[in-house]
Amino acid sequence: MSELILGIESSCDETGVALVRTGAPGQTPQLLAHALHSQIEMHQAYGGVVPELASRDHIRRVLPLTGAVLREAGVALDQVNVVAYTRGPGLAGALLVGAGVASALAAALDRPTMGVHHLEGHLLSPFLSADPPQFPFVALLVSGGHTQLMRVDGVGRYALLGETIDDAAGEAFDKSAKLLGLGYPGGPALSRLAGEGDARAFKLPRPLLHSGDLDFSFAGLKTAVLTQAQRLGDALPERRADLAASTQAAIVEVLVKKTLAALAATGLQRVVVAGGVGANRLLREQLDAACAQRGVRVHYPELHLCTDNGAMIAMAAAMRLQAGVAQLRRDYAFDVKPRWPLEEISASNP
Ligand code: KG4
Ligand code: ZN
Repeated sequence: MSELILGIESSCDETGVALVRTGAPGQTPQLLAHALHSQIEMHQAYGGVVPELASRDHIRRVLPLTGAVLREAGVALDQVNVVAYTRGPGLAGALLVGAGVASALAAALDRPTMGVHHLEGHLLSPFLSADPPQFPFVALLVSGGHTQLMRVDGVGRYALLGETIDDAAGEAFDKSAKLLGLGYPGGPALSRLAGEGDARAFKLPRPLLHSGDLDFSFAGLKTAVLTQAQRLGDALPERRADLAASTQAAIVEVLVKKTLAALAATGLQRVVVAGGVGANRLLREQLDAACAQRGVRVHYPELHLCTDNGAMIAMAAAMRLQAGVAQLRRDYAFDVKPRWPLEEISASNP
């Protein structure tokens, strides 16, 4: 029997709502509708996300977006079987909005709630594409707050292979972009400017490239960009594109090489890239080229589902339900987990 899952995402600066229908065992759940409101414009004036403003805006947006999703899907609210929400990681106040609204809706409907791990949402987001991956695969999770390589054997079966010891790849993009005087969010801006520059113009470090493990470090890169920018002084404006291109090349090279190392270490032949940085064009080009040479398939979420959205939360909830590993709550109590390692929800760590 199929079930309708409403998913609410509010962990950071995007309010997302979506409706997904579960399928028969072995079938990928189906996205019926999703709606998104990005707060980027609101936070732009401050150069980054202002948590209190984020929470208030989620409150304003979440119910209108829910109404829009139900209308688009042609589904009445009382047909929803499970209300899922992002339980963490993320901004505490922002998470509480989604968790509170989801629990209130579920209580009114007398249906269970389900708290979803935001990174599991990203990890499973390629299942929303027309050509979904098959388990097992290596996942490169590259978001604003996380950079991890995981071995994924199934829904809820995640083993950490390596992760960043300091900044995330998205943070490296954002912080370098800020140093170059580009706006927030820096990733897309830096990558656009990089398209006009010469990636070989500046020699920047490739941290931990030869460390022999699958960990990352990006904090030193940001310092190197700062040093270059200071050295350039007045000449910075005309060299900005070159510095942006060199920065992007350094980040992408490390991500690609470490992903190849993870493939070699696990013997797996499939890669899934998820999280905001997965939208980066150079990363896609270089990873595709390197993997094609090795006969490895690479899967990405659709471009508009790389950054935060409700579809991935509803999808993760639906896949957990179908796999029989969902933890449903019927007491309408909720808590959020601003810090929440993904391994905590892995089957080997129930
Ligand atoms: O997954 P996401 O939407 O949010 C988190 O869960 O953190 O990722 C946002 C991150 C930001 O750091 C943003 O700069 C980066 O993804 N990003 C990009 C691109 N699009 C988004 N970085 C590089 N190139 C892009 N095209
Ligand atoms: Zn995210």
